[in-house]
Amino acid sequence: MNYRHAYHAGNFADVLKHAVLQRMLVLMQRKEAPIAYLDSHAGVGLYDLHGVEAGKTGEWHSGIGRLPAQSNSPLLADYLAQVAALNSEGERRYYPGSPELARRVLREYDSLQLCEKHPQDFALLKDNMRHDERVICHQRDGWQIGKALLPTEEKRALLLIDPPFEAEDEFSQAVNTLQEAIGRMRQVVVAIWYPIKAEKQLKGFYQALANSGAPKLLRAELWVRPADNAASLNGSGLAIVNPPWPLEEELRTGLPELLKLLDQGGGGYRLDWLIEEPVLAPTPGAKPRKPRQKAR
Ligand SMILES: C[S@@+](CC[C@H](N)C(=O)[O-])C[C@H]1O[C@@H](n2cnc3c(N)ncnc32)[C@H](O)[C@@H]1O
Repeated sequence: MNYRHAYHAGNFADVLKHAVLQRMLVLMQRKEAPIAYLDSHAGVGLYDLHGVEAGKTGEWHSGIGRLPAQSNSPLLADYLAQVAALNSEGERRYYPGSPELARRVLREYDSLQLCEKHPQDFALLKDNMRHDERVICHQRDGWQIGKALLPTEEKRALLLIDPPFEAEDEFSQAVNTLQEAIGRMRQVVVAIWYPIKAEKQLKGFYQALANSGAPKLLRAELWVRPADNAASLNGSGLAIVNPPWPLEEELRTGLPELLKLLDQGGGGYRLDWLIEEPVLAPTPGAKPRKPRQKAR
C-alpha cells in the first residue's frame, strides 16, 4: 500500500467526487428518515494543502485552487461553503476529504462508518474524527464493506467506493463490492469513483457496470485534458447507483460549469445512464420493462 491521498487532496478529481458527494447527501436529506454514510476507502478525512505532501505535487492548484470562494451553482454552492467554513477568510489551506465532508453535512441522527486499511492513515482518520460520536472508524479491508456493514439499520444509506486504483483488479473489485452492496440492500445509493487516463482502457469496466444488475446507474465524467494518454490522470468519473433526485438535472448544468473552471485544454464531460430506470407500463396488469443497459 503505497498510496497516500495527502499528495492528491483537492485535485480536480477530488473536486468532482466531493462536489457530487456533498450534493447527494444534501438531496437525500429532503426526506427525514436517517441516513447511514459508508466509506470503503476513507483516507485521513482532513488535509493540509500547505503540508509537505500536498506541496510536493501541488495538484490542488489545478483543482480546488481554481474554484471561486463561492458559487450559485447547486452542484458547487454547498461544497464551496464547506471548504470555506474550514478556512479563515481568503485562505485555502484545509481541505475536507470525504469523511469530513459527510460529517459536516449529515444530521445529528445520521451515522457514518469509515474503513481505512493503511495503519498511519487510519490513526490520522481516527484522530480527525474523534470528537464526533456518530462516526465509527474501522481499520479493515474496504472491499469487505458490503458483507461487514450492509444492510444498515437505517433504511437509507450512501456507500462511497473510492479505492486508490493502484492495482489492475481494483476495477473489478469495485464492481464486485457494488454487487455485494445492492444484493444486501437494493435501495442503497452507491458511488464508485474511478480515474480516467485513456478512455479505451475503461471499456471492460463500463460493460461490467452495465451488467451489474443495479436498479439504475448514472455515469458522470469530467476530463480536463483529452482522455487519450494512459500515462497521466486526465479526468475522473463517478458511477452512481440509485442517484437521489434531481441529481441528474443538477449535473446537466453543473458539469459544464465545472469544466469551464477546471479545463486545461481539450477537456470535456459526459453524463448518461449505463442502466436506465425501468419504465412502469401504464396499463393495469402489464409487466414493467426490464432495465435497459448500455455500455460504450
Ligand atoms: C483515494 S483514497 C481515499 C480518499 C477519500 N475517500 C476521500 O475522498 O477523501 C484511497 C484510500 O484507500 C486506502 N486503502 C487502500 N487499500 C485499501 C483497502 N483494501 N481497504 C481500505 N482502505 C484501503 C488508502 O490508504 C487510501 O487512504
